[in-house]
Amino acid sequence: MDDLTVDEQLLSEYHGAVPRHVAIIMDGNGRWAKQRGMARLRGHHAGADAVGAVVESCRYLQVEVLTLYAFSTENWQRPDHEVSGLMTLFDVYIKKERRRLLDNGIRLEVIGDRSQLSDKLQRAIAELEEASSGNDDMLLQVAVSYGGREEILRATRRVAAQVQAGTLDPEEIDEDVFETGLYTRGRVDPELVIRTSGEHRISNFLLWQIAYSELYFTETLWPDFDEAALLEAFADFEHRQRRFGMTGDQIGGGEDSNRQTSDRSSEPSILEIVSDEETG
Ligand code: FPP
Repeated sequence: MDDLTVDEQLLSEYHGAVPRHVAIIMDGNGRWAKQRGMARLRGHHAGADAVGAVVESCRYLQVEVLTLYAFSTENWQRPDHEVSGLMTLFDVYIKKERRRLLDNGIRLEVIGDRSQLSDKLQRAIAELEEASSGNDDMLLQVAVSYGGREEILRATRRVAAQVQAGTLDPEEIDEDVFETGLYTRGRVDPELVIRTSGEHRISNFLLWQIAYSELYFTETLWPDFDEAALLEAFADFEHRQRRFGMTGDQIGGGEDSNRQTSDRSSEPSILEIVSDEETG
């Protein structure tokens, strides 16, 4: 990678599991600023600085998709000064990080209702999306004016319109068809969701896509979240057993990993168990 500014030694010593898709709720900028007697926007500015290290680290560790929750549909209700400051910060980020993203093979895509953004910001986003569209080392999805419910409604409107037009039979609506209406269509679902700052909520983030994601919560405030904090989250992820509704035996460990357990000769049937209870 060109121009690596993160702690490469620390990253190179990590040999544990790396999630294919990491999604992060970057929380705690305001508290970080308050603890230092600073204005909230200074916290967001420090938060934007923290983004660079995490993007570089994920790219270095060969994460395929990194999704950052930068601004929710609910965040529009914040004071005007904070909203416009955040919008300016996104614009600055796009200009400042342009070279680094392109040089490092990172593709940028913004997910969310971009029609709510200024024309200038929409143009800057579209330009970098286009310039980076051929990059395939990592996809950086930045969620701006994003809401999980809004995304699901949008996908619902899309399939409803197809049904109304007679091009889709309601019986054909399955997960694959529905997902074509999501911002994230065709992407692997997040394997790990990280939320900083000690809050244990999802806050309308990727509601459809995180059905089977591992959730990791840390007390660290977002501006302090660095490569070491990221590795801690990955190490924790490594020890989770992802079961997708199956049993531990079916997916984990031994020879029968990811397969139905074949030898059930020693197991009682459910009728035997129920009749034992009745007679016992
Ligand atoms: C939540 O912290 C954070 C946000 C609403 C904004 C996130 C934005 C950034 C990290 C900066 C820019 C991002 C990019 C991609 C350039 P909060 O303000 O709710 O913190 P608090 O809960 O402590 O008040």
